[in-house]
Amino acid sequence: MVKFAQIKGFLFDLDGVIANTSAYHSKAWHQLADELGVTWTEDLGNQLKGVGRMDSLNLILKYGHKENVYTEDEKVKYAEEKNENYLKLLNGLDKSEILPGMEDFIKDLSAHHYLISLASSSKNSPLVLEKLDLRKYFDEKVDPATLKHGKPDPEIYTRAAESLKLKPEECIGLEDASAGVTSINGSGAISVGIGDPTVLKDADINFNNTSEVTLANIEKAMDNKKVLNK
Ligand code: G6P
Ligand code: MG
Repeated sequence: MVKFAQIKGFLFDLDGVIANTSAYHSKAWHQLADELGVTWTEDLGNQLKGVGRMDSLNLILKYGHKENVYTEDEKVKYAEEKNENYLKLLNGLDKSEILPGMEDFIKDLSAHHYLISLASSSKNSPLVLEKLDLRKYFDEKVDPATLKHGKPDPEIYTRAAESLKLKPEECIGLEDASAGVTSINGSGAISVGIGDPTVLKDADINFNNTSEVTLANIEKAMDNKKVLNK
């Protein structure tokens, strides 16, 4: 059983954990789903969270029973269109859209000399971190373009731990998406799920929102947990 004292690193998802940008991804995907004639539902929105760009488009098409309708080139065009709309939504992004408590939490980790790596599927993550002025706190990041498999596969969290030269068991991963929690769990790191605990039921530790995410609350949650399956 992993103890809080053994933790040396933190692995962060970005969209929906550090910033409110998950809502912008959803908005841009919703727009594209409408254009493709696929009915948008909350369930579809949850399935897409944390999932990479092309995988997300394929999930939307599958959801609307249109998986064989478009060529690869057409799909690339639609994915680019979504990204252009997403980038427009990012235009005014600044520090005010850092989710409650997250800047203080990241600063606290840094002050306590924890290592920090980014495990976001988003190719726009460097831009987002720059706009939020948080880039300086990250020791390492995984480039999602180099991954063989996206979330829910464990690869991104395994690589994020490796980037810090740590074992996954020495790390805590933070996620707002079910696919992301599955990815953390598969890597062997401790998973913190932030958001609806029924959606994030597989997380080792659950918080309802980012304001609850503090080192003290994580330590308390790990100590209270009788058996962490790792
Ligand atoms: C994150 C978001 C997803 C998004 C994915 C790819 O994981 O949670 O909603 O689809 O990144 O983002 P990108 O910016 O590369 O299209
Ligand atoms: Mg996320």
